[in-house]
Amino acid sequence: MRVIILDDEALATDRVAALIADTLARRPAAVLGLATGGTMEGVYARLVAAHRRGDLSFAKARTFNLDEYLGLAPTHHQSYRHFMAHHLFDHVDIAPENTHLPDGMAADAGEAARLYEAEIAARGPIDLQLLGLGANGHIGFNEPSSSLGSRTRVKTLTRDTIEANGRFFEAGEPQPRQALTMGIATILDARSIVVLALGAGKAEAVAQTVEGPVGARWPSSALQFHPDVTLVVDRAAAGSLAMRDYYEWVSAHGG
Ligand code: F6R
Repeated sequence: MRVIILDDEALATDRVAALIADTLARRPAAVLGLATGGTMEGVYARLVAAHRRGDLSFAKARTFNLDEYLGLAPTHHQSYRHFMAHHLFDHVDIAPENTHLPDGMAADAGEAARLYEAEIAARGPIDLQLLGLGANGHIGFNEPSSSLGSRTRVKTLTRDTIEANGRFFEAGEPQPRQALTMGIATILDARSIVVLALGAGKAEAVAQTVEGPVGARWPSSALQFHPDVTLVVDRAAAGSLAMRDYYEWVSAHGG
């Protein structure tokens, strides 16, 4: 795993936006795997700014998001479809039909999961999969105890995740307890993976991702099996890495 430690959140976010922009410059018809969450807001703001400057086009790109809440309509202010429209899709030149999220309103969620997996297989592979990290090590909504061989399916969220994401919901507003999420094996099918983690609250998850034993307790540890993962962190999120000096030394020497 390539571990890139940068001084602060802004620099780490800049780096991830640049990695996505480079992918689109090299391959305008790239298939991007996208994530939501607070960490990604700055990444999308930078991509929108680059598009407005005329430096970046999504005209030929296709996107697949990791996950969507079960039971939230695309117009709901906390649906991930709404998040993506608000932070990225409505501000760049991507064709709406080229943006894909799991259907959180499907009458048969199991069938919706199978269809999503089939669509990724037909249009993929995903060239670059962007990931955030849950403080509990989830990627997408693959919560601890998820099968490392999982595919897109319904997952029940942990209490930690419901609490962490409660900050986005109004007081008293019903909050979904389940989501449709790409599985860990779906994520590992991507050609390359870029993970962004910011802040001390992610430090343990970062250390487990890079240095921990691979296992279902920390689902992100499965990324150790992938040959092309770049993990970008700020100093605070790097705080629990035992081999931090080594990663910094490797970065400084271009290895
Ligand atoms: C979102 C997703 C999640 C988030 C993770 C971190 O699509 O799949 O895995 O990336 O929960 O969320 P934030 O960035 O809000 O800390």
